[in-house]
Order: sequence, then structure tokens, then C-alpha cells
Amino acid sequence: MELISPTVIIILGCLALFLLLQRKNLRRPPCIRGWIPWIGVGFEFGKAPLEFIEKARIKYGPIFTVFAMGNRMTFVTEEEGINVFLKSKKVDFELAVQNIVYRTASIPKNVFLALHEKLYIMLKGKMGTVNLHQFTGQLTEELHEQLENLGTHGTMDLNNLVRHLLYPVTVNTLFNKSWFPTNKKKIKEFHQYFQAYDEDFEYGSQLPECLLRNWSKSKKWFLELFEKNIPDIKTCKSAKDNSMTLLQAMLDIVETETSKENSPNYGLLLLWASLSNAVPVAFWTLAYVLSHPDIHKAIMEGISSVFGKAGKDKIKVSEDDLEKLLLIKWCVLETIRLKAPGVITRKVVKPVEILNYIIPSGDLLMLSPFWLHRNPKYFPEPELFKPERWKKANLEKHSFLDCFMAFGSGKFQCPGRWFALLEVQMCVILILYKYDCSLLDPLPKQSSLHLVGVPQPEGQCRIEYKQRI
Ligand code: HEM
Repeated sequence: MELISPTVIIILGCLALFLLLQRKNLRRPPCIRGWIPWIGVGFEFGKAPLEFIEKARIKYGPIFTVFAMGNRMTFVTEEEGINVFLKSKKVDFELAVQNIVYRTASIPKNVFLALHEKLYIMLKGKMGTVNLHQFTGQLTEELHEQLENLGTHGTMDLNNLVRHLLYPVTVNTLFNKSWFPTNKKKIKEFHQYFQAYDEDFEYGSQLPECLLRNWSKSKKWFLELFEKNIPDIKTCKSAKDNSMTLLQAMLDIVETETSKENSPNYGLLLLWASLSNAVPVAFWTLAYVLSHPDIHKAIMEGISSVFGKAGKDKIKVSEDDLEKLLLIKWCVLETIRLKAPGVITRKVVKPVEILNYIIPSGDLLMLSPFWLHRNPKYFPEPELFKPERWKKANLEKHSFLDCFMAFGSGKFQCPGRWFALLEVQMCVILILYKYDCSLLDPLPKQSSLHLVGVPQPEGQCRIEYKQRI
């Protein structure tokens, strides 16, 4: 009998392997991979990532994989995939973000994994609804103090105005009273470095630092600033009740569980988390309100009914007052719905089935709150700014509308969400109470460059303000 030659055996073996891989791939979602090894469709994706996702959904259906910069990102856009994203034990938050945390704040992966849950529980508790009242007094005082700097009237870029208010207000409230610089040159430096760090945060989370000189310089500047200031931050206790600020409580855990070395890095991470989303949300909320005259008028009527005729006094805003000004809360939430983060992510740790496809372990599972909030099935007339849609949400029980995912969801939902809502509401109330405001430019477009976090406006949007008498 004639023996089969080794060449034929090899060819048959390869064919069998090829068919096996094909079969396996058949059960995977469609993959957009491009032709450049490792980079994949990195360039096309990076140019306008939000548009890329939506075009891919229209072309490939409710689940698809994008291969870029060595990562397989599988996007889910409908119920079954969303449920897996939110509830499955086969996907993991910590493993999805540990690399981002390592690159952006140089926190070693083992330290991050060891501390994450403990820190999360502390943050969630300190900024939870039960403890929120502890912030109202200081937020009011800090906002009044910063508003004084605006003078009696002026014209300013709204984004710049909001940054000048909320950078110091947030930092002094959550980090330490009077930590924010008061000297003009130092304030300017803080703004420049924070904006550079924030703007390229997404690239910093993926590329080596040597390719991002400006970003790397800002990161180092903040790490050095924290290193210098942490001893002071730690010793300064609240005069009222000797309680710790959010940053102090964080440093306490970091230094007890690991070493002092990691403190500046956690300081930087908390700084970014507390400013990067809340500040643009305050910008967009004011921009939406001021560009909808009927809503602006209704808000002013509400403010007058609670605080009396709007004027320049230093009013105090209580939790009860906020309850009476529901329209403002709806405006903030409607703004967040429309300007939600482009993506949130989880790592697949065991193969998981979605819509008859198998998503392999190692993939990043991605969900886009931005696009989910534009699905008319969940939010009718999704492109319209309609604060009244929030009437249906059970806000008293602290729940949002179904499928509202701007703060993420599940076990590690944003722990700062109630603080952010409070801060933006107070900011809107005090600005509109004290100043007669109008926009000099139309509502700007949003920058399409980023997926992480609330989008920034593109181009300027000026506000004219006059102090009331
Ligand atoms: C409107 C403003 C904000 C938005 C839209 C927002 C959104 C988010 C989102 C989407 C996540 C990821 C959640 C997930 O993947 O499930 C997150 C996490 C986080 N947010 Fe916020 N956030 C806001 C304000 C704040 C503020 C003011 C703080 C204050 C300190 C904060 C602190 C954090 C922290 C520490 C995490 C990480 C949680 C963890 O590691 O488990 N956020 N936020």
C-alpha cells in the first residue's frame, strides 16, 4: 500500500486547522480589523471614534468587534449584550481599567487591584445620598467666593467661566479648604496643566508617554504638586467636626494598606475623576438652559419663588430648596443624557455568549452610553433637549430613567454621581440668581475626538453677565 506523503499530511493538517479556526470565528461577532498588523483600524477609529461606532452598528448590526492598537473591543448596543455587560460574572471592571490607571497615574497594577474595592466603598459612602448634606454648606460658600471674582458684569467664554468657578470649588471642598492656589500665575498654571492632562488622557491611557511630551509634562507637574502638598493636606482637619475630606480619607487607606509612595498618584486620579466630567456638564447645562428661553424663564420663576426676587445677596441653598427646584435637576440630568461618555468598558474573563456569538476572554466589552441615550426605543425624540422626560424617573428613590447609563452601572457605578449632580445644580442656581445672563453665540458642537468621559465643546461660546441689583 502506498504511504501518504508527509507533504499531503501537512497540507491536510493545515486545512483541518484552518476549518476549525473558521468555525470558531464563525461564532464570533463580525470584526473590523483593517490590514495593518497591531494597529488594525486604529487610525480610522482614532479620527472620530463616536462616528466610527455608529457607522459600524448600522453596517454590522447590534454586536461587532473593532481591532485597534492591539485591542479587540467588542461593542454591544442592544438588550442582550447590555444585560451581559451589566450583570455577567464573566466580565470584570477592575481588569478592564487597571491598565488605564497604570498608564495615566502610574499606579502599579497589583496596588490598584489590592486597594480598589476598599477605596470604592469609602468614596461611595462619603459621597452617597445620606452624607450629601455635608457638602451643601461648603459648596454654597465656595461658589459665592468664586462668583465675587467675576465682578459686576462682563463677557467671557462660558467654558472658561465654569472652569474658574468649579476647579477651586471642587478642589477646596473635596481635597482641602484653601488648597486651590489664589495667586494669578499659579491659577493659570493649574488650568493649563489640568487641561493638557485631561485633553490627552485618552491617548495617555494607550500610548507610551514618550510620544506625548506635553501630556507627560502635565502628569509630572501634578505628581510633584501632590508630593509637595500631601503633608499639609493630611494635617489640616475640618474646624467644624474634625472630619476628613474625601482626599484625606483616600490617603488614609492608601498609606495604611500600601506605602506613602502611591499617595500623589491617587491624588492625581481623584483630581481627574472629580473635575473631568462635572465641569463640562456644568458648561453644557448652562448652555442648554440659556439657549432655551422658555426653560430659562421657567427656571427663573422657580428661583424667585424659593429665594425671593433674584439679586446679588449671598443666599444659602438647602436640600429642601433643591427639592422645590426640580426643573433644574431635570435640566442637569437631560444635559448628562445628551452629553454622556462615549464608552464604558469591562474585560471578558471567561468566554461569554451574546446573540449566538461567543465573545472570547481577553476582549474588552464596550458599551456606549452616548449612543444608547440616542436610541429612540429608550428615549423618544432622543436628539431633543426635553427636561420634562425626567418627570417619569423616580428621583426621590434615587433612580434614573431606564437605560440611562452616563454614570455606568452595576457594582462600580460612579461613586461621585450625587455629588456631581448637587454641585452642578448649585452652580446653575447661584449664577442665575446673581447674574442676568445671555449667550452671545449659538450652542457649540461637541469635540468628536474622545470616547472617555463627557465631551468638551468645540469652539467658543461667550456668555454676557450683569450682576443683579
Ligand atoms: C456628571 C459628572 C460625572 C460623570 C458623567 C461620571 C461618569 C463616570 C463613569 C461613566 C464612571 C465609570 C463607571 C462604570 O464603568 O460603570 C465613573 C467612575 C468614577 N467616577 Fe464619575 N462621573 C462624574 C462625576 C464624578 C465626580 C464629581 C467624582 C468625584 C470624585 C467622580 C468619581 C469617580 C470615580 C472615583 C470613579 C471610579 C470608580 C471605581 O474605580 O470603581 N465622578 N464616573
